[in-house]
This record gives sequence, structure tokens and C-alpha cells, in this order.
Amino acid sequence: MAAPSTQWLHPRRPAAQFPPYAFGDPSLVDQAEARTSTLARIYHKSQEQAWDGRAVLDELIAKHGGIHFPDDKKAAFAQVAAVLLWGELAAWSISADLALKLDDTPAKMAASSQVFDEARHFYVLRDYLWRAGVPIQKLGGFSRTLLVELLETDNLLYKVVGMQLMVENTAVVLFKMIGEARLEPVLSDLLYYFERDEARHVGLGVLTLPSVLAGLSNREARALWWFQTRIQLTMLAGGMTLRESFATLGVDQAEMERHAFRLHDDVLRRMRAHHGADRGADGAAVKGLFEVSKGGQHALNGFLFPRGTPTAAHRLALRAVVGAAALGDRWLARRAPAT
Ligand SMILES: [Fe+2]
Ligand SMILES: [Fe+2]
Repeated sequence: MAAPSTQWLHPRRPAAQFPPYAFGDPSLVDQAEARTSTLARIYHKSQEQAWDGRAVLDELIAKHGGIHFPDDKKAAFAQVAAVLLWGELAAWSISADLALKLDDTPAKMAASSQVFDEARHFYVLRDYLWRAGVPIQKLGGFSRTLLVELLETDNLLYKVVGMQLMVENTAVVLFKMIGEARLEPVLSDLLYYFERDEARHVGLGVLTLPSVLAGLSNREARALWWFQTRIQLTMLAGGMTLRESFATLGVDQAEMERHAFRLHDDVLRRMRAHHGADRGADGAAVKGLFEVSKGGQHALNGFLFPRGTPTAAHRLALRAVVGAAALGDRWLARRAPAT
């Protein structure tokens, strides 16, 4: 069997590998693995924690006496909700693609359970927006570019790093912070369910990636690093275009960014620990993964979200960055096909 990194960088087609008879291997080692696999546990946990989206939404609406979304915040929330809703749809397709292409049973199980979660997230959120009278808008150019790239790539490594580590992480933070902003009680209660599911989805990346990353050549690791840098910059630029919306909603974007960095650091720590526990290795488990030093995080956060009164030069530079992001976003959106 080819090394995991080769299989992920160049997934094989069914004609070349179906059925993978090793999945039915009854050796004692495989039987024990099937029962104890942490990865397969994501699937079982998802079954245990599955919630009926229709029932939960109806119950929450009854509990709070209806949805009363503040009119003066609907336009701002519509902007943010577009990213959440179309992001859920992309996550649904991407997890289905992973369920199809990942080629070991526990990983396939974890991805399959995610397909059900993302389908539920999409229909429940859409249902909520309809009932709340929040218009469903088109995606901004940067967000669309990012999601299309993850949908389109055949490279499983890029798909899993981009989706499970970067986008899912952002989703956890967004759901948490929007929930805590208490914009509307049904929404806050609902987002708690989303956040719990998304945290499980990050787990798929944490558990599958270390052994793949450890097998990357230096050139492949560099290519992966550039891919993440591009994704990260696209996310940052997309975030810049939502500054006013988040401010109107009372969601602190600076704290959101700090929280996302903390979560990412935690993910890297878990990956090192998991891999190290198995094989006595550490750095190899996160080879090629994007990491920003604490100083770098602090500097970036301070530039984008200055505390106190910034200098005139700082204000000018920031205004240029925000303006360029808005221009770029509109330019990319105009190039999107009519769908
Ligand atoms: Fe989701
Ligand atoms: Fe997710």
C-alpha cells in the first residue's frame, strides 16, 4: 500500500483500488483497532449527539415565544449569515467528498457522520433565517473564492487542512462569539448545537493529519505552507469586509481573531501530542502547517484592531488595507458566474 501522504496528494480512482479488501481483514490487530479507534469514535459520538434540527428549532421558538430579530441588526447579520450559510453548504459537499475519497474505514466513518451534521446545519440555519426575516444574501468575493478552492481541489491534504483545520476552526469561533452576543435568544441557543458539532469536525483533521504530514517531502511541506498562507490571507481579507457588520452586531472582531489563534495553537498541540504518543515524534506531526508566533499574532491583531487611538500613519495604512479588501471583494464577486 502506498504511503498515506502519497495517497492523499494523489488519491486513486475506484478502478484502481476498489474494493479495498484490507477493510475486511479479520486479524486480531484489526479487530482491536476497529473497536478502539479514536477516529471512529467521532462517528459514534456524532450518532449519540445527533439532534433533530426541526424539533430543536421548534422547541426553541416555543420556549422564547417566537423569533424577534432586532430590525436594526438584520442587514448586518445578513452579511455574516451569508458566510455561515454558504459555508455550511460547502462543508456538506466537502465532507461528502472526503467520505468518498479517504481510504481507511475510521476516517471514512468520521467524514460520513460530518455529512449528516453539515446537512442539518445548512437546513436549520436556512430555516431560521427564513423565519427570522433575515434576507439570504450572496457571498462576498473572498469567501466565495476560498470555498470554491476547497471544493475544487483534488488534493485531499489541502482539502482536509483547509476545511477541517482552518474553516472549521473559524466556524467554531464565529458560532461561539455570535451566540454570546445574544442578538436573539433562539439564535444564541441554536448556535450552541452548531458549535459542539464543529468542534468534532476539527477532530477529524487532528487525528488524520499527523501521519500524513510526517511523510511529506520538504518541497511538499513548503507547497502546503503556501497554500495555507493563501487561505489565511483570503480569510483575513474576507474578515476585513465584515468589520462594520460585526461592529453593528456587537461582536468583537479583535477578540474573535485572538480566539481563533488560540484554538489553532491548541489544535497543533493536540496533533503533536497525539502523534507523539503513538510514535515518539513531535515536529513531524505538524510538518508544513501554518504557525504564527505569539509576537506575530500580537502585531497583526494590534495593526488590524488598534486599541486606544492609533497614530495617523497607522490609521492611514489600516484604511488602505480595509479599502483594498473591499475593492478586491467586489472585483472577485463580479467575476463569479450567475448561479
Ligand atoms: Fe457546520
Ligand atoms: Fe463543520
